[in-house]
Amino acid sequence: MIEGDWIPTTKPLFTVRVCINKRLNTDRLPSCGGRGSRGLADALERMILAERIPASITRGPCMNNCLHGPNLKIQGADYFNLEGDISDVRIEEIMVAIRAEAERRKSLPADDGAVVP
Ligand code: FES
Repeated sequence: MIEGDWIPTTKPLFTVRVCINKRLNTDRLPSCGGRGSRGLADALERMILAERIPASITRGPCMNNCLHGPNLKIQGADYFNLEGDISDVRIEEIMVAIRAEAERRKSLPADDGAVVP
């Protein structure tokens, strides 16, 4: 979790779930945490806060796709298998998808709580 002076003023519209599971390697499977997903989650969170994108990072358990991780899912949108590549190019690719999802959600009609028959 990133700490700082700036506190988001709006409620996040969606979450980005990042697998941060770190396996002790007793079964010789790679894990997202072992491939740098915790630093990836921190980096994405910093960028989201800096750009004031209405999204939040959720650090979560194994997503059952360990061989292709680090893995992350943008709620309602893309799923990424990074195949061990957490380069700046891949991070920017994820940020493009996050920005696109934020724009898509901002364009949706506001939920006023009315029940649609
Ligand atoms: S450790 Fe991340 S998907 Fe299994």
